Amino acid sequence: MKYRRLGQTNIEVSAICMGGWAISTKDFFWDEQAREDSIKATHAALDAGVNFFDTAPAYGDGDSEEILGEVLGPRRKEVVLTTKIGPKDLSPERIRECCETSLRRLKTDYIDLYQVHWPNAELPIEPMYEALQGLKAAGKIRAIGVSNFGVSYLSELLRIGQVESNQLPYSLLWRVLEHEVGPMCVENDIGVLCYSPLCQGLLTGKFTTADEVPEKRARTRLFSGDRSLSRHGEPGCEAEVFIAVDEIRKIVAEIGHSMGTVALAWLLHQPGVVSVVAGARNGRQATENARAADLDLDTDVVRRLSRVTEKVKTIVGKNMDTWDGISRMERIDRPHLPDLGRLSQQEAKRLLPGTAPKRVGAASIGKPSRK
Ligand SMILES: NC(=O)c1ccc[n+]([C@@H]2O[C@H](COP(=O)([O-])OP(=O)(O)OC[C@H]3O[C@@H](n4cnc5c(N)ncnc54)[C@H](OP(=O)(O)O)[C@@H]3O)[C@@H](O)[C@H]2O)c1
Repeated sequence: MKYRRLGQTNIEVSAICMGGWAISTKDFFWDEQAREDSIKATHAALDAGVNFFDTAPAYGDGDSEEILGEVLGPRRKEVVLTTKIGPKDLSPERIRECCETSLRRLKTDYIDLYQVHWPNAELPIEPMYEALQGLKAAGKIRAIGVSNFGVSYLSELLRIGQVESNQLPYSLLWRVLEHEVGPMCVENDIGVLCYSPLCQGLLTGKFTTADEVPEKRARTRLFSGDRSLSRHGEPGCEAEVFIAVDEIRKIVAEIGHSMGTVALAWLLHQPGVVSVVAGARNGRQATENARAADLDLDTDVVRRLSRVTEKVKTIVGKNMDTWDGISRMERIDRPHLPDLGRLSQQEAKRLLPGTAPKRVGAASIGKPSRK
């Protein structure tokens, strides 16, 4: 296992972080999950040298936090725990309450990295940041991170203070952050933590056609907006995705590792990436995913993998939001309208006939300063 420094802290995290969403036994998004398998997955990750564990209250309404607390509580000093705070809970009072709840579930008295799960367009950022600083001063958290913060929200935050990480969707099939926010994180010494790095299983090669992908995983903008659980209303690019997966399969066959391992290793060769947050539902998956940390890919292989996924990158465009056609990761510059992030895509389109909402980006905000 390799370890890397988290942002500007002195916290060393494993290059592979175990993602805690799918280990919840109560999450609608993932099909049935046995608690015993989740416990085995967590032990297997530990045995493979993983010291970094990601979870959130939203994963099975606290179930994921509780499972990690049960396994990692007795080994607390060996691990770096990160959990999140939901976008509806960003008032100072709720931040303090939610932190206490997470501490209790995780069976600990401090959280190493406390992340804002999603931005909230309706709440001012400054009191939120001050409340997080207060938790840090009280020793309840060691570092502050964000997640799903695009250029506009991150710029606002950097005017107030520093954050150590930004957890974003990043995989061979979802390379949106390379356009803007990835370079911005590098410039500001903010570690990128990559979520859905296996594109929820697509990059393990387990699905050979789009029809095989279960509806719950076909909600993303890679898939047709006609999928039953989809809400983005876009055509998607299913054909291009599976052409890319076939090309990746051919490259991987030449180097003798599993597709999943190579897909995770590719991320670790990208600028700014500190750790890859890979979900695992059992011990075998956790062990296999951890192997990626030690896989040094040839520069030529990295380049070829990037080349075969370029077309998907172009089609997906600059909207980093995996699930919504109008990004919830950027502040929408339309103050006369209600918060678009809270509207359904149909409602948003009705309010914005024929226009794409304008995003407030780095160019209009100016270069963020660090304090
Ligand atoms: N900040 C955010 O907003 C956000 C959003 C999403 C996720 N996350 C974090 O990122 C983590 C990972 O993302 P994710 O769970 O969406 O997707 P992911 O890591 O891309 O995919 C995880 C899924 O792929 C399958 N898998 C994993 N390892 C495998 C292997 N070695 N071989 C075969 N199949 C394997 C498993 O599902 P099956 O066995 O059922 O196929 C597993 O649940 C989450 O657990 C969570 O901690 C954060």
